[in-house]
This record gives sequence, C-alpha cells and structure tokens, in this order.
Amino acid sequence: MAKKNFPLPNVYRLLEPGPVVLVTTAHKGKANIITMSWLTMMEFVPPLVGCVISGRNYSFEALTRNGECVLNIPTVELAKQVVKVGNCTGSKLDKFNKFKLTPSPASKVAPPLIAECFANLECKVVDRRMVNKYNFFVLEVVKAWIDPARKEPRTLHHQGKGVFVVDGDRIKLPSRMA
Ligand SMILES: Cc1cc2nc3c(=O)[nH]c(=O)nc-3n(C[C@H](O)[C@H](O)[C@H](O)COP(=O)(O)O)c2cc1C
Repeated sequence: MAKKNFPLPNVYRLLEPGPVVLVTTAHKGKANIITMSWLTMMEFVPPLVGCVISGRNYSFEALTRNGECVLNIPTVELAKQVVKVGNCTGSKLDKFNKFKLTPSPASKVAPPLIAECFANLECKVVDRRMVNKYNFFVLEVVKAWIDPARKEPRTLHHQGKGVFVVDGDRIKLPSRMA
C-alpha cells in the first residue's frame, strides 16, 4: 500500500512516549504544577529520566533555580484536570486550589506530591548540560511512591491536538528486556 508523506512537525505524535505526568515544582515558597508528556527513561539504577520543559513555562524557572521536582503519574480519572493544568500558567495562579488537587509533603525534595496520583517520583536535576540548547533536564529519582491499592492503573498517553490513548489490555511475553 502506498504511504503518504507525514509532516515532520507531527513526528512527535508517532513517538510520543508516556505516560503523561504532572510535574510539581516549588519556587519562592509556592508550589506549581505543569502537565508534561516529553519524558524518557535513561537509566535503571539510579533511575534517570530526561524531560523537556519549555523555557516559556513558569515551571522552567522553578526547576532551573531550585533543581527539584516531583513526577506525579495520573490515571484516566484525572484526565480533565491534567489537560486544564496544561492549559494555563501557574505564574499568578494556584493550580492545586483551582483544579482541586491535594499537595502532600515529599520526603526528599521541596515540591509536594499530588495525593490523587497513583505514583509519585521525587527527583533532583543531576545534569543541566542540555538545558540551554534543548530545555532538556536530566532528573534522578531519589524516592518513589506507589499506591498499592491501584492494581492496574490506566495511564494517559498524549498523541497531540488533544488526543490521548488510555492504557488498555496488558499482555505478558518472554522479553529479555529487564
Ligand atoms: C497533554 C499535555 C502535554 C504537555 N507536555 C509538555 C511538555 O512535555 N513540556 C512542556 O514544556 N510543556 C508541556 N505542556 C504544556 C504545559 O503544560 C503548559 O505550557 C503549562 O501551561 C505550563 O504551566 P506553567 O507556566 O505553570 O509552568 C503540555 C500540555 C499538555 C496539555
């Protein structure tokens, strides 16, 4: 079957990793949240995660100055809040209050966990060499939390233009990947 051209600006829609996360930061004593889908695993132990946070976002300044964040992983039940958080800036707004999300103290970093998310990864920025060029931060996960009551959390995966894929069936195969 003949293939057709796929516009380069849309390539991200095919490779978009996931899941979508809510990143909390703290700046000048105030916590904020940004919706983020551009992230990638980089190492198992210690867990390293690369992520892109645009310099146009308020969260960029917080992460650059304070070097700490929490990657909070939401499930489909929070989908509407996830999009709303990503559609506005926290520079003058308390997104926790506005979107009815509950901050909960982290153990090793200043930004709070989001209680409603089934997993929370406390992170420190460990490499900033690609921030200037790509807005790319390398994070080390220094503490991870999971809700044991959530057996099969259905996470969100962004496909651009307001389209999300929600985790569905799970299959188990003899993969050699750890
Ligand atoms: C589904 C979704 C995914 C997003 N992914 C990213 C991302 O990976 N990096 C980024 O910088 N902004 C991303 N955004 C945009 C930010 O969430 C948005 O600009 C937000 O308003 C920034 O908030 P802040 O100014 O409070 O930091 C995404 C938004 C949505 C809705």
